[in-house]
Amino acid sequence: MPKTNGDSCIQVNGSARLKGEVKISGNKNAALPILAAALLTEGDITLNNMPNLSDIRLMRTVLDELGAKTTFDNGVMTINARDVNKYETRFEMMNQMRASIYVIGPLLARFGVARAPLPGGCAIGSRPVDFHINALVRMGATLTFDHGSMDLRCAKLRGQRIYLDFPSVGATANIMMAAALAEGTTVIENAAEEPHIQDLAWFIKSIGGRVNGAGTKTISIEGVAKLHGASHTMIPDNIEAGTFMAAAAITRGNISVEGVQLKDLRPIIVKLMECGVSIKEHKNALKVVGRKKLDPLKITTLPHPGFPTDMQPQMMALLSTAEGVSIIKETVWENRFMHVAELARMGANVNVQGNTCVIIGTQQLNGSKVVATDLRAGAAMVLAGLAAEGPTTVYRADHIDRGYERFEEKLRGLGADVTRPE
Ligand code: EPZ
Repeated sequence: MPKTNGDSCIQVNGSARLKGEVKISGNKNAALPILAAALLTEGDITLNNMPNLSDIRLMRTVLDELGAKTTFDNGVMTINARDVNKYETRFEMMNQMRASIYVIGPLLARFGVARAPLPGGCAIGSRPVDFHINALVRMGATLTFDHGSMDLRCAKLRGQRIYLDFPSVGATANIMMAAALAEGTTVIENAAEEPHIQDLAWFIKSIGGRVNGAGTKTISIEGVAKLHGASHTMIPDNIEAGTFMAAAAITRGNISVEGVQLKDLRPIIVKLMECGVSIKEHKNALKVVGRKKLDPLKITTLPHPGFPTDMQPQMMALLSTAEGVSIIKETVWENRFMHVAELARMGANVNVQGNTCVIIGTQQLNGSKVVATDLRAGAAMVLAGLAAEGPTTVYRADHIDRGYERFEEKLRGLGADVTRPE
């Protein structure tokens, strides 16, 4: 029996071909650093198109606990960080959400002190934060460890040239935020190029920061003395969009995915078309039509603009229903294959060899009881359930709530039989 932890579950009755329109929400992985970046200023911040997700609500709590004043209503978050008077994130927060690490850069830059517990590992890897810390130390912070917590202090951060060994999204964001109030110019080489990094740069510019090159491998940030309030609208979530595109493909459906930024979806569009899915672009919408027989694929996950690791589990579910042998190589996270065993419960034929999976397409998945081992794995299990014969129960649905706004409701709007029993 799957370990259920007593949490909520999602029930899926498969076989319906999805059809209709779905509107994509604001981008979670852009929103999380932008919320932290609100700590950089005393001014009023208004963030529009904010997705109502458990990770977003948690980051709001992190800001509230530091002394910021926030409101969140109808997709609009307001933040005022004038009265921040605490500089430490609680262990419980960091333990629930590693993105809590985003507050250390802005806290250090504005107040000269930041304390946070080390994040620890999770289901997809050991998730170290050495790039974040090394960069802040290089910019002038003093680091001490105290009973599992790090304590960073500085009189004033100084701009530096920082080379990242790997284009880490989190480290790039943290350095950009810290550099916005540092003395002089910081240059990040081998920076992450993800759409959410570009959105963070737009936000920092809107509050008076000076950032150049976001979306390329070299980002430069000229520090300023003070930043001001602003209003900003979150970009659409490319991974949510990709997940609905995969849902259309796996059910051989016909849907329109509305409100997307096409350029952020290029790697996903290319791979789905390669396996036989028809995709037509129209302004900021995509018409996605699945085909009965899907071809196998070779996918290697890579930092943007390569194929996103956050779409890897959903593509694995899809390729389990293709005809032939597919290969997925995961190069971003060392342990992002927990969903393989869950897909196997449904009859998928997937073999793991190190960081590579061989997927032998199967005629029909069978509904089963499965566990969402992490956020994207959970979405993949729901997708597999949509294509399966018979009912599927996905336990640990709380993982899905971290990153998909009104997931079941949106799927139901496309004709899926998806419910969450009380
Ligand atoms: C972000 O995580 C995303 N999270 C993840 O999305 C996403 O999978 C990941 O980027 C890669 O795209 C958020 O944006 C909140 P990284 P992050 O730093 O920033 C190594 C989802 O499903 N590394 O780019 O934590 C690390 O171990 C989530 O929405 C170091 O070695 O990822 C990994 O192998 C899950 N030292 C690689 O770099 C460091 O200091 C990429 O990590 C930092 C990272």
